[in-house]
This record gives sequence, C-alpha cells and structure tokens, in this order.
Amino acid sequence: MDVQCALDCRSLLGEGPVWDVGEQRLYWVDIKRWQIHRFTPETGADETWPMPEDIGALALREGGGLVVALRSGFYFYDLIDRRLVPAALPEDEPEHNRFNDGNADRQGRFWAGTMDEGEKLPTGSLFRLQPDLACHKMIDGIIISNTLCWSPDSHVMYHGDSGQRTVWAWDFDPATGEIDNRRVFVRTAVADGVPDGATVDSEGFVWIAQWGGWRIVRYDPAGRVARTIMLPVAQPTCPMFGGPGLDILFVTSASIGLDAEARAAQPQAGSLFAVNAGVNGLPEARFRG
Ligand code: BGC
Ligand code: CA
Repeated sequence: MDVQCALDCRSLLGEGPVWDVGEQRLYWVDIKRWQIHRFTPETGADETWPMPEDIGALALREGGGLVVALRSGFYFYDLIDRRLVPAALPEDEPEHNRFNDGNADRQGRFWAGTMDEGEKLPTGSLFRLQPDLACHKMIDGIIISNTLCWSPDSHVMYHGDSGQRTVWAWDFDPATGEIDNRRVFVRTAVADGVPDGATVDSEGFVWIAQWGGWRIVRYDPAGRVARTIMLPVAQPTCPMFGGPGLDILFVTSASIGLDAEARAAQPQAGSLFAVNAGVNGLPEARFRG
C-alpha cells in the first residue's frame, strides 16, 4: 500500500506539517482547533498544545522552540514553559484576515501569508520575517496564501493563491530574500482541486496537496505532472517528508466544511496520512531568529 493513515485524528483543519530530523517527530497544526500537534511515528503518540487564536503555520527555531503565525501575527513559542512572546505583529491586516501557510527558507527567514476567511477578497499578503525580526510584506492581492516552498538550490520560490487556483514561481535571491520575475508554475483544473500546501523533494520536484481533489500531485520543475497519488480524503492540505530516510511523505488533511454525507464517504477526513513516496525530501529549514 502506498498510502496509509498514520494517525486517525479527525482534525478540523490539519495543516503546516514540519519534520524535525533530530527528534524524528512531526509538528503540525489544527488551525481551527487552535492547536499545535507533535506526532511521534515510532510510538504513535500525538501531543497537543493549545493556542489562544487560529494558528496558521509554524517553524522550528534553530536555537530550540518554535516561531508561530497566529491570527494576530508572529510569536515565539516555548513548548516547555508554554509561553508565547510576540515577535512581529503586522499592522493594517483586515479583521477578516488570518494567517495561513508558512515556512522557513533555507537561509533561516520565516515566511507566512494571510487569507480572507470568506475566501473571496484579495486582501491576503505574504510576509517575510527576518532573523532580526524585521517584517516585510512581499506580495499582496492574494485571496488565500498557500503552497510556499523553495527549490533545493534556493533560486526559485513557489507561492500560490488557492483562490486563484494558481501557483507561481519567483526568482529568489537567497542572499537577500528578494523575489522577482513572477510566472505561472501550475494552474489546476476545477476537478483536480485547488493548490494548498507544498514541499520540494531532493530532485527539485514540487509536491502539492490539492484541496477538494482527493490527491497529492508531484510536478517537475517546469510545472508538468509527474505523478498523482489519490487519497481517501477530499481535502488534503499539506505534504512534508519525514521518517529516518526522509522518504515518507506525511500529509495533513481537513474535515472542516464537510456535511454529514461527505463525512460518511470519507470517515478519515482530518487524519494524518503517510505516503511511500519513492523519493526523499530535504531536511526542513529552521528559523534563525
Ligand atoms: C486554508 C483553508 C482553505 C484551503 C483551500 C487552506 O490552506 O487553511 O481555509 O479552505 O486552504 O483553499
Ligand atoms: Ca495550506
């Protein structure tokens, strides 16, 4: 079997998986249950930490602990003393926005975007948080910021808007974190779902979870479909490589928005899946602030 249910957890909006190579554990969030999760594949244990707001994304910090993108902005979080400390709180974000997908780039900056909760207005942006905690709005006019990841050589940044069913590639300057020359990387067909979270494998191919499309799709660097893996849930949200060989593709999913009939048809909606990917990932970058 290529696809297994790793944790039968029925999250509301499971998202943002990050593999910790040292701990051999998967951190992830349930945006709408306001929780951080930590899954240990070896034992099957899943621990949770409550958050005071929606939690859209997290990254591991190089010196330990986490940086999290809550509804109101960026915070540091210590899992042991359970303390949140504000790192940067962007002003001028509309009330109906919240943070969504985010990731650390390989140079140690943390990026996270916002979305209109109504999923209609282009009020979302993508922010870049530097290790010195300077925070810059890098992209605006986005409905649902998603699909953020970088090529292995860090010369390309991928970023998507689920609301526009589009993922773009940008030239990325690893030394400065500047972006330029946006072009369309992938535009999904309605039946295939909207682009949600993504990760890049060691061959530079991009794995995208396609929300509403029951699938994870591997794209080559030119944006052509290389492989499609169907899942037993309609709303996969984000892939992340993990396991001792970094060759298990963990995939979070969501049960939010499904009516009783849809839930009956996909009883594992919201669970965490493990896919035998046949290729390996790269260790996840850490925030250097
Ligand atoms: C968001 C959801 C949204 C989905 C599909 C996810 O990243 O958290 O709110 O419905 O993308 O666009
Ligand atoms: Ca997402």
